[in-house]
Amino acid sequence: MTSESLDAAQVAARAQFDRQSERYGRSHILHDVTDVERALAHVPGPAPNGGDRALDVATGAGHTGLLLAARGFATTLADLAPGMLAEAGRAAAERGLTVDLAEHAAETLPYENGRFALVSCRVAGHHFSRPGRFVAEAARVLRPGGHLLLIDGTVPDGEPEAAEWIHLVEKWRDPSHGRFLSPGEWRSLLAEAGLHSVHERVEAMKQPDLEWYFTTANTPDPNRHEVRRLLREVPPAAQRVFQPGEQDGRVIWWWQRLTLVAVKQRGDTGIGTGGPEQETRS
Ligand SMILES: C[S@@+](CC[C@H](N)C(=O)[O-])C[C@H]1O[C@@H](n2cnc3c(N)ncnc32)[C@H](O)[C@@H]1O
Repeated sequence: MTSESLDAAQVAARAQFDRQSERYGRSHILHDVTDVERALAHVPGPAPNGGDRALDVATGAGHTGLLLAARGFATTLADLAPGMLAEAGRAAAERGLTVDLAEHAAETLPYENGRFALVSCRVAGHHFSRPGRFVAEAARVLRPGGHLLLIDGTVPDGEPEAAEWIHLVEKWRDPSHGRFLSPGEWRSLLAEAGLHSVHERVEAMKQPDLEWYFTTANTPDPNRHEVRRLLREVPPAAQRVFQPGEQDGRVIWWWQRLTLVAVKQRGDTGIGTGGPEQETRS
């Protein structure tokens, strides 16, 4: 994959995550895949013959995709940052798991229609330049009845002031951040792509320490200064939604994390009637 085939947001994400790939291994909070395990309760397990394929898009250090491989899916770990794929490949070898590694962007999936039983994407959609294009591509490469498992930071629908604040914080911390989409925005993209949401959960997830947050992104000093300024000037809506504050001498806040599981409609099964099962935790 050459830089010429990537847009500016993808080039920025690739550079950022290549630089930071070593920080995404076991010590990273993403190593805890309890959220994925919970979501998989809403996805049929792979067929025992090992024939069901899964694609983990924007795999990072492979935390999600390796769980799928361990569950018996024939799994492809894909990312646009070669440094991240190298980390993921090392982690697979350490765990004795066989996976395919693929270097490509989320917005252009180089696979034939209907190849996968499951497409997953965790904590990456907010970097995508065209999330709608990613969802459409995921729908295309899923077989009828196949599932999309999406987990990402989110902002509540109807909270523009809070959304603006968290976007500024994230953008100063890591300029390759794009946007957190609200549950309603994701739902519209799924519906446009012919995917029917069967499970939706929003929960609060702790940002554990401002210093850790900066270190994992290698945030330059002037940008840290801007984030600290935003933390001194939190608008009321952002205070209510993200609850920034101090805990044990650390600056923390509570991200909103969205989990969505959606199924590709078969056309004749009646899937598509009724709404998703919804949960909200905070
Ligand atoms: C926070 S990490 C992902 C974590 C991982 N999914 C997990 O479950 O631990 C974000 C990843 O998204 C990748 N990424 C960002 N934009 C991308 C894009 N447009 N296409 C593919 N990968 C992308 C980055 O290279 C990075 O590895």
